[in-house]
Amino acid sequence: MAATNHAVTAELVALGLERREARWLVEEFYLGGEPSARADLLAAASRRLSGEPLQYIIGHWPFRSLDLDVDARVLIPRPETEELVDVALGELDRDVVTPLILDLGCGSGAIGLALVSELRQRGVVATLVAVDESADALTVAKANARKHQVLTASFVQSSWFSTVDASLRGNVDLIVSNPPYVGGDDFELLDPVLRYEPLGALVAPDRHGHTGFDDIATILEQGLEWLRPGGVLVMEHGDQQRDAIVAHAATQGWQNVRDLDDLSGHPRIFVGRRS
Ligand SMILES: C[S@@+](CC[C@H](N)C(=O)[O-])C[C@H]1O[C@@H](n2cnc3c(N)ncnc32)[C@H](O)[C@@H]1O
Repeated sequence: MAATNHAVTAELVALGLERREARWLVEEFYLGGEPSARADLLAAASRRLSGEPLQYIIGHWPFRSLDLDVDARVLIPRPETEELVDVALGELDRDVVTPLILDLGCGSGAIGLALVSELRQRGVVATLVAVDESADALTVAKANARKHQVLTASFVQSSWFSTVDASLRGNVDLIVSNPPYVGGDDFELLDPVLRYEPLGALVAPDRHGHTGFDDIATILEQGLEWLRPGGVLVMEHGDQQRDAIVAHAATQGWQNVRDLDDLSGHPRIFVGRRS
């Protein structure tokens, strides 16, 4: 006879899993209590005990209103990035009825797909161009677009703006980005669980003496010309990068610059406009 969910959860806890995570795995792999599911559940528990993130093991994760497929090809979407979506929604000009959104470094598609779906709920049909240099990430993002019936998205393999269609230049209403911003040396000191995520999603070279600043600097240098007049960039960054970003943005001509804390009180979100 199949063990009850409660008994199986207790078994996983005895193996060393946290109770909350054990419950999660049981719900994912053992919900019907089929005896044949037991092998899958134990394999999942063993992956978790060896350090792999829960999100990759269960293969999907909530981000705002979406349930996104995630695996080792993409960064696991973070709660502070959900806050960036709120900021972006607030910054988007309400007079624009069919906004054009560029999501730079889309990963799983989290930011752009959440924006399009939430705008759709308000009756706004946004067009999304989702860019990533990783073909693997784009495969996951496309699957997530299909899963959530986002039909107005296209996907471009490009290093930042380098192969984005030139016809978009000067026409984008909103650029959103959560670029890599961790310095190589800092990465070595961070939680080893991050090693399961793609290195290219997290680590950026230093620039101008600032740690992990290279990708952020590129977006600040090239972003303005892709925005329409009045268009806005909303970009996530590391908690030590505020001063460097605001200073660099000023040298590039960004207007109405603000830099916001996340809900934990850390500097996190740059907002700048094209005049
Ligand atoms: C921090 S992850 C963000 C993923 C997703 N937007 C999110 O917030 O969950 C950064 C993403 O930028 C992509 N990336 C890194 N360098 C890039 C480049 N030069 N051009 C375009 N995308 C890049 C990575 O592949 C990764 O998907």
